[in-house]
Amino acid sequence: MKITFAKSQMPKSDAAVVAVLEDRVLSPSAQALDEATGGALTRALKASRFTGKRGHGLTILAPAGSGLSRVFLLGLGAAKELDVKKAQAAGAQVWQRLAPTSRGTVSVMVDDLDGCDMDPAEVAAEMAFGARLRSYRFDKYLTRKNDHDKPVLKTLRFLCAGHNRAKARFETAEKVADGVFLTRDLVSEPANVLYPETLADAARKLTKLGVKVEVLGPGEMKKLGMGALLGVAQGSARDPRLVVMHWDGAGKGKKSKDGPLAFVGKGVTFDTGGISLKPAAGMEEMKWDMGGAGVVIGLMKALAGRKAKADVVGIVGLVENMPSGTAQRPGDVVTSMSGQTVEVINTDAEGRLVLADALWYCKERFKPRFMVDLATLTGAMIIALGHERAGIFTPDDDLAAQLSAAGDAVDEPVWRLPLGDAYDKALKSDIADMKNVGGRPAGSITAAQFLKRFVGETPWAHIDIAGVAWSKKDAALVPKGGTGYGVRLLDRMVADNYEK
Ligand code: BES
Ligand code: MN
Ligand code: ZN
Repeated sequence: MKITFAKSQMPKSDAAVVAVLEDRVLSPSAQALDEATGGALTRALKASRFTGKRGHGLTILAPAGSGLSRVFLLGLGAAKELDVKKAQAAGAQVWQRLAPTSRGTVSVMVDDLDGCDMDPAEVAAEMAFGARLRSYRFDKYLTRKNDHDKPVLKTLRFLCAGHNRAKARFETAEKVADGVFLTRDLVSEPANVLYPETLADAARKLTKLGVKVEVLGPGEMKKLGMGALLGVAQGSARDPRLVVMHWDGAGKGKKSKDGPLAFVGKGVTFDTGGISLKPAAGMEEMKWDMGGAGVVIGLMKALAGRKAKADVVGIVGLVENMPSGTAQRPGDVVTSMSGQTVEVINTDAEGRLVLADALWYCKERFKPRFMVDLATLTGAMIIALGHERAGIFTPDDDLAAQLSAAGDAVDEPVWRLPLGDAYDKALKSDIADMKNVGGRPAGSITAAQFLKRFVGETPWAHIDIAGVAWSKKDAALVPKGGTGYGVRLLDRMVADNYEK
């Protein structure tokens, strides 16, 4: 589907979309179209329960004299309540209502609305972004030709005052959508296709956008002493990878002495649990246990795509957690790159072992301004917050505030959970510096405490996305499946705090 912008005009063919505000008030475009069609809109409204409520709509077929195939009346609710998120949701609604059935072009007429804080160019751009995000499909493995769900819409065209401004705003947003789509693709891809090597190949493609990409194999990781990550990988026939991506958009010479911003992702391309094998029911979901890495790769694509003025490093640790004759056993002791030893009580607590070495490597090599890691780390996260919010864990109030604000702004909300020495004590081991699990109580927090032992003095935040990386039901801007949750959040965090 193409998305275009043009100046305000009366569409003459195909389908048109006009807004109706609460209590059946026609927007200016709707009024003009009503006149052009001899009152067809007013008549249809009178005969219907549709009142212009936000989220609702009404389709009118072939109003006489207009040349249009149909008109969709889009309920926008109260103009004074319209904001960025509501405009995005309205765009998504238009796409959902019309894309599966309309061929050709859908023209959306966007007006200057009395009492609305947003001008028409902003509304049009945000609607377009919402439509784009909602239009995502992962259908590469659906081979049947008569797929009636498949969208047929060719062009979604927004007509508004200031359409060039709308276009420019959308073009930036679209780069972020490209990053979100890459993450969704990676998360949805099955583990027979996506494994450490092929996931690293996907990251390597960012080179085209100006991202420097390095891929470390098992030999290099061994030399670096990454015993924690390698211990997880050793049961798999697929070799692990560590991918380092660097986008330096801060400009030469302007490099801050604070070091780059760093994002680190857990990339377990499949998590069977290892010798501490998971139960069969639902295990297929563990193909998305590379969700953290997926977000970091998608984020790098978004930042490079929109040429973000920031110096950003993305690091992902990629392994497959399998049971086999070479797999690590419960009770094994591994030595991490930091030198700290870990008693592996449960081989299913593997994400933290991968991140331990990835975080330490990141800190040592880049001396970053901060590190934010993302991981589908604990089932306990889903018990605590469900699928509504990701959990954040950080000793740093500034990072917490930045993440919370960005999450709220893009509707990828987070909730801060506590850290503390009392939780850290749960990791005490009798034979090593720590064990890799802290027991059932506060499982997400003790996992975060484990990570904290590998970040040194670097400001750090951990985001547990176990509950939000995948969705079993459609949401306003996110079709069910891989969500891309975190890409927009971190893109916004960078934009709002580190690009000025
Ligand atoms: N990848 C899982 C966490 C997970 C579980 C994410 C379900 C999404 C849905 C992680 O590697 C894991 O297995 N964690 C264990 C930790 C436990 C052994 C301490 C868990 O949460 O059960
Ligand atoms: Mn696991
Ligand atoms: Zn896992």
